[in-house]
Amino acid sequence: METIAILGSRNPEGQTARATKALLAGLGCENPDECMIFLPSMEIEVCRQCDAQGWGLCRSENRCVIQDDFEEIVGKIRDADVVVFATPVYFADLSESLRAFLDRFRRAHRPKDGDEAGLGEKTTVGICVAGGGGGGAPNCAASLEKILAISGLDVFDMVPARRQNLDLKVDVLRRTGEYIAQQQA
Ligand SMILES: Cc1cc2nc3c(=O)[nH]c(=O)nc-3n(C[C@H](O)[C@H](O)[C@H](O)COP(=O)(O)O)c2cc1C
Repeated sequence: METIAILGSRNPEGQTARATKALLAGLGCENPDECMIFLPSMEIEVCRQCDAQGWGLCRSENRCVIQDDFEEIVGKIRDADVVVFATPVYFADLSESLRAFLDRFRRAHRPKDGDEAGLGEKTTVGICVAGGGGGGAPNCAASLEKILAISGLDVFDMVPARRQNLDLKVDVLRRTGEYIAQQQA
């Protein structure tokens, strides 16, 4: 089972990575480091809102004109059976890097009637880790779920976590991964 995890954290040893690795372990991923993409280390520009109407080639050709790492990551999502989006909670919302990626993803790959623009109901899990005071994870999860659903992904679950319950949520995430792996076997 091919799995890809897109993280809006810059910290491979951080809390968001810890939560993500638990899910990946449950999914049976033997080399989690190879499945994880840390967006702040990639080149991802913000949407340029091309043309006067605010649309661009993303509407007509389902691709983004910006030449950076975006389409390469989209290709990895396309090849995966299970996709994970994980973010640290910033101001009760997504981190800037994940926001920038998903703002472009929902435009270029949103579902449209009668074509294959969307990525076909791919099994998706969202993880939001509030690692400071611990507030805002449910709000962040609602924000993430909305943008993933608009992008046409099949949101299997959203898992909000906070520093104070991270040990519990790590266990939940591992078992969530095992459950998905069983269902896809
Ligand atoms: C700009 C910014 C905003 C933050 N906002 C929140 C917040 O709303 N709630 C919270 O619990 N933690 C907040 N934090 C703390 C992060 O959630 C915490 O540092 C996060 O777990 C770090 O993730 P990482 O370990 O993957 O780097 C914020 C941190 C930053 C840098």
